[in-house]
Amino acid sequence: MSNLWNFISMVWYQLTFKPQPLPDDIRLEGQTAIVTGSNVGLGFEAAKELASHGLSRLILAVRDPAKGEAARAEIAQAAPECDVRVWSLDQESWASMVAFAARVRTELDRVDVALLNAGLKRLDFGRSPTGHEAHVQVNYLGTALLSLLLVEPLRRTARQTRKPGRMTITASSVAFWARVREVREPKGGKGILAWLDDPASFVPGDSHYCLSKLLDVFWTRALAARLDPADIIVNTLNPGYCRSSFHRVDSQAEAFGQYLAWSSAEGAYHVTDAAVRHPDSHGAYLSEQRVRPVSRFISSAQGKEVQQKLWDETIAVFREECPEANIKEFTSD
Ligand SMILES: NC(=O)c1ccc[n+]([C@@H]2O[C@H](COP(=O)([O-])OP(=O)(O)OC[C@H]3O[C@@H](n4cnc5c(N)ncnc54)[C@H](OP(=O)(O)O)[C@@H]3O)[C@@H](O)[C@H]2O)c1
Repeated sequence: MSNLWNFISMVWYQLTFKPQPLPDDIRLEGQTAIVTGSNVGLGFEAAKELASHGLSRLILAVRDPAKGEAARAEIAQAAPECDVRVWSLDQESWASMVAFAARVRTELDRVDVALLNAGLKRLDFGRSPTGHEAHVQVNYLGTALLSLLLVEPLRRTARQTRKPGRMTITASSVAFWARVREVREPKGGKGILAWLDDPASFVPGDSHYCLSKLLDVFWTRALAARLDPADIIVNTLNPGYCRSSFHRVDSQAEAFGQYLAWSSAEGAYHVTDAAVRHPDSHGAYLSEQRVRPVSRFISSAQGKEVQQKLWDETIAVFREECPEANIKEFTSD
C-alpha cells in the first residue's frame, strides 16, 4: 500500500471511528498489571482505566519516579481500592531493565497483564547510552528485552490461574509507512540493527520512528510464534493519532493533530482493549479496536525472512550486551 493510501486511511479512521472504553462488565479484581511509560499520555490513561475496572495491583513502570508519583496519586484517588506502585524503568539502560524484571520476580506473586507502551519520537539522530540509535533502543530493543523478561512471571501466573496472561505492545499504523528497504536490504553488508544504528541510515524526520514501530510489529509476531497462547496472548496495536506530549518535537504533527487527533484517553482505549479483550489476537495487530491485517510486506516470504533475521540479531544483541538478562529459553533457535 502506498503512503498516500496509508495517509488517507488514517484520516478516514480518525474522523469516522469512535474509540470505546472497556465495557463495565470487564472486572479485573485480583489481577496485577504492569504498564510502561505510564506517567503521562496513553500509558497513564490506560493504567487509570485498568484501575477503574477493579484491578488489584498496578505497577507504573516509569523512568522518572517523581513524575510517576504524580500519576500514582491521581490514579489512587480515582481507584482507592487499587494498590498502585511506582517502579523505576529506563529502556535506555540494560541494567535498569534487568533490575526491574528481578523486582517483578521477587516482589510480585502474580502478573496478569503487561502493557509495553513506553516510546519516544525524535526527528534528529540520537544515540542512547547503550550505543544504539535512540528509537531502536527505546521503542524496539527496550520493549523486546522487557517482553522476554516478563514471559516467566506471566506464564507462571497463567498456569496458576488457568487463564492466559496478556502482553500488549503499543506500535502504530506508521509501522506500515516505514521505508522497508532499510530492513530488507541494509547497506554496507550490515545487519538490520547495525544499519539502523548507523547515522548514514537516518533521514531527518520521523522515518526512524516509523521503522522502530515496524520492528515492534515484527517482534510481536516472532515472539508469538514462540509462545503458547494458552500461557500468554501477545499482540500489538495502533492506538491512532492522539494528543499527548508525544508529538512535541514535531510541530507539523502537532498542528495537524488539532483537527484529527483523538484524546490520550481515546488512544488508551485501544491499548486496554487490546490487552484485556480479543482472546483470539495472539500475534495479531489491532487497529480501531479490532484485528486488522498487517502490511503485505510483513506477511510476504521476504517479510518472514526479515522477521527471522531480526529475531536472531536481537537475541544476539541481548546475549552480548546484556548477558545478565538470562534469556536462555529464547537462545536456542
Ligand atoms: N500519541 C500518538 O499519536 C501515538 C500514535 C501511535 C503510537 N503511539 C505510541 O504510544 C506510546 C505512548 O505514547 P504517548 O502518546 O503516550 O507519548 P508520551 O506522552 O510522550 O509518553 C511516552 C512515555 O514513554 C516514556 N519513555 C520514553 N522514553 C523512555 C525510556 N527510555 N524508558 C522508559 N520510558 C520511557 C515517557 O517517559 P517520560 O515522560 O519520562 O519521557 C512516557 O511515559 C508510544 O509507544 C508511542 O509510540 C502514540
